[in-house]
Amino acid sequence: MTLAGKSVIVTGAGTGIGLGITETLLADGANVTVVGRREEPLRTLADKYGDAVNVVTQDVSAPGAGERIVAAATRAFGGVDSVVNNAGLARFGRLDTIDPDLFDAMFAVNVKAPAELIRCALPQLKAHHGSVVNISSVGGALSMPGRSFYGATKAALNSLTRSLARELAPDVRVNALMPGPVDTPMWNETGLDAAGTDRLRDELTASTPMGRFGRGEEIGTWVRLLLDPDVSGWVTGAVVPVDGGRTT
Ligand SMILES: NC(=O)c1ccc[n+]([C@@H]2O[C@H](COP(=O)([O-])OP(=O)(O)OC[C@H]3O[C@@H](n4cnc5c(N)ncnc54)[C@H](OP(=O)(O)O)[C@@H]3O)[C@@H](O)[C@H]2O)c1
Repeated sequence: MTLAGKSVIVTGAGTGIGLGITETLLADGANVTVVGRREEPLRTLADKYGDAVNVVTQDVSAPGAGERIVAAATRAFGGVDSVVNNAGLARFGRLDTIDPDLFDAMFAVNVKAPAELIRCALPQLKAHHGSVVNISSVGGALSMPGRSFYGATKAALNSLTRSLARELAPDVRVNALMPGPVDTPMWNETGLDAAGTDRLRDELTASTPMGRFGRGEEIGTWVRLLLDPDVSGWVTGAVVPVDGGRTT
């Protein structure tokens, strides 16, 4: 139980990868402030795990969200040791058909909100020699025809991770994970129609050497390792692919 009693904020905690991360951290003894816009999936976690879960219903891209989330975590658990920026928006489409406003929408959730949450948690993270994990994507490293806006926001998140790692060392470690394709509800909400989604899923399975989509808990394990100073105390600025070999 390497994270016993630690206070961790996880955004987008109620579904998919965030759920896998949250349940992995709870199993390791952490207290988790779970953040999302819909209360119901977060409440389900609180019902299952009791006082170790602190529900904060919040759009991470709303003005003042970072302050409110940090204040709620501090009220519940006495401070903040770690932040996992997992909430993300994925909308796909080629340049000539995608709604151009989606670039701003994705940038707000995938890049600005993580930066703002880290900024608001900074005094606490410094005081606790804390750690940040940003959930990026292989899209931040690969070319992404048909998903260029999304890939660009994840490349920006990778850059933010590396710059902040230097800026905040040695007090706070900042790392990122780049998942390959993971089976989550995200795949129902990309803006592609059902046939396009099936085609893309088949393509991604075929281009992933391990031959399958990943699972949320397979990302959660890596978050736990990056938060644990005994394992990763000398790791910062790392942008780690956890992707079934897709970026090889
Ligand atoms: N699935 C993949 O193949 C894959 C691959 C690489 C990277 N990723 C990344 O992994 C992360 C999690 O995605 P997922 O696949 O697990 O998708 P998901 O199941 O759709 O999860 C996204 C979560 O983020 C929350 N969220 C979205 N916008 C939010 C906002 N503005 N404020 C607060 N919470 C918000 C959602 O809850 P509410 O709707 O209740 O707010 C939801 O719980 C994302 O950053 C995604 O880009 C996913």
